[in-house]
Amino acid sequence: MAYRISAGSPHLPRLLSGAEREAALDRLSVEFTALSRSKRAFLQAALILRRQGVLLVRQAVPPQPLRAINAEVNQLLEQLDTGQTKQLESKAILNLPNKRRIKGYENFVDVEQAVINHRVRRPDGRSGSDAGMVDIFHPERLSDAMARAVTACLHERLISRLLLAVSLMPMRVKCRNLYLNRGVKDTRGYHCDGRSRKFKSFVFLTDVRDLGDGPYCYVPATHRDRLSWKRNRQFNEAQGLNRHEYSQLQGLDALPLLAYAGDMVISSQRGAHRGHPQHPSARRAVLVNMYQR
Ligand SMILES: [Fe+2]
Repeated sequence: MAYRISAGSPHLPRLLSGAEREAALDRLSVEFTALSRSKRAFLQAALILRRQGVLLVRQAVPPQPLRAINAEVNQLLEQLDTGQTKQLESKAILNLPNKRRIKGYENFVDVEQAVINHRVRRPDGRSGSDAGMVDIFHPERLSDAMARAVTACLHERLISRLLLAVSLMPMRVKCRNLYLNRGVKDTRGYHCDGRSRKFKSFVFLTDVRDLGDGPYCYVPATHRDRLSWKRNRQFNEAQGLNRHEYSQLQGLDALPLLAYAGDMVISSQRGAHRGHPQHPSARRAVLVNMYQR
């Protein structure tokens, strides 16, 4: 189908809801026990991820490690909120709104310690800042208990094997993050994380049951849709936008990945995705793993 690019206007995809959304989620889902025990389920999951760019693994984590991480997270947030940061400073680099110590994604990735990065509005006022979000790089370095719980959540050997089956090349863990969103409204619109082959796994530590909770949204199959990539690239060039924005998604459906605590979403980051803006009182905690060649 041919689409005309109308000057300057972004076109959002249709956000699936109700029975359509449930059916789409079911088609993209596998139970963790089946994935880890049955070769047939493993190959089926690899096929879903290869074709659709996104997979929901249900009940990937039992309650105990979830409780352990959430307990440590709640304590950490309370210390940040009340400004009692002495203890935190002994185990992490703090990048706070009024005191920035590190800049640049690669520097966050390369540093030896955990980094607690409290995101702020962009100085130039551009949207998509995720202002208010607490993004913790290398959360496994916060404490031994956290390291054990993070390891129990991420299932790295199994997921690496799955990604090898999907992409036919070995994928390595590049960075682990913990995203803590509390009423974050200014989320980035649909985009891809570059054009190289890159996957992320997201373990939900809290339930994400409706749009106000700020679900991860994905436009299935855009990771291999060259036409849609071309259309967006042309639009971005004409408008002077970042080349990785996906603002021309007319005619496509986006799926909000509603999940329960303990579920895991895996996605190809070449596909169009975003975090939905949250309700002011919403809380969401997600453990993220980035895999790259
Ligand atoms: Fe992204």
